Amino acid sequence: MKHLVAPSILSADFANLDRDVEMINRSEADWLHLDVMDGIFVPNISFGFPIIKAIKKTAKKPLDVHLMIVQPERYIKEFKEAGADILTVHYEACTINLHQTVNEIKKNGMKAGVAINPHTPVAALHDIISELDKVLIMSVNPGFGGQQFITRSLNKVQEAKKLINDLGSSAIIEIDGGVSLDNAENIISAGVDVLVAGNAIFSTNSPEETISKFKRIGNMT
Ligand code: DX5
Ligand code: ZN
Repeated sequence: MKHLVAPSILSADFANLDRDVEMINRSEADWLHLDVMDGIFVPNISFGFPIIKAIKKTAKKPLDVHLMIVQPERYIKEFKEAGADILTVHYEACTINLHQTVNEIKKNGMKAGVAINPHTPVAALHDIISELDKVLIMSVNPGFGGQQFITRSLNKVQEAKKLINDLGSSAIIEIDGGVSLDNAENIISAGVDVLVAGNAIFSTNSPEETISKFKRIGNMT
């Protein structure tokens, strides 16, 4: 499939959130990526339900909500009600009940994703990948925008692709952290379907044009 682009709201201007969401509406972006952090799973606190609901009012594209919180199974219904279309939990945050959590996400009418941190091997997803709509490979240690891409993540993308093909899963692969216009081509060649980018989009003079550049990567023309 042609790759998708999901700008990460973490790098947006929270004092002008509506303006940035409208920019994404106008742009060629496919999804909005929303990072929820609890200060326990990661050493940072971002935002929760009120912000997601506010974004949902303006957004015309699917909300891709990435939960960096412990015990995410506590809030699945609430994230659906806040407006999440795709809900991603971390493998490391639900080692006891991941299968149940994934089923619960789908039962609530959302697409289900599982994210793995840089230290978690792709093989850990062997027994869950057939149930997933999306695998999220973290290419930085989660918690902050603007970090450097961990190159080894490209091998993990290839491993995930192989696992998906071997097991006949329909999951797509998303990558998150340190994605830039410079490394995006390699990332897509490795087999990524969805590029998340925060800093590389919002730190530029024209985020809308930068999104178009991300979309054009890999085109022959
Ligand atoms: C990191 C978050 C990312 C972050 C990416 O913990 O999950 O979604 O916003 O930001 P950049 O693209 O700036 O690395
Ligand atoms: Zn994220």
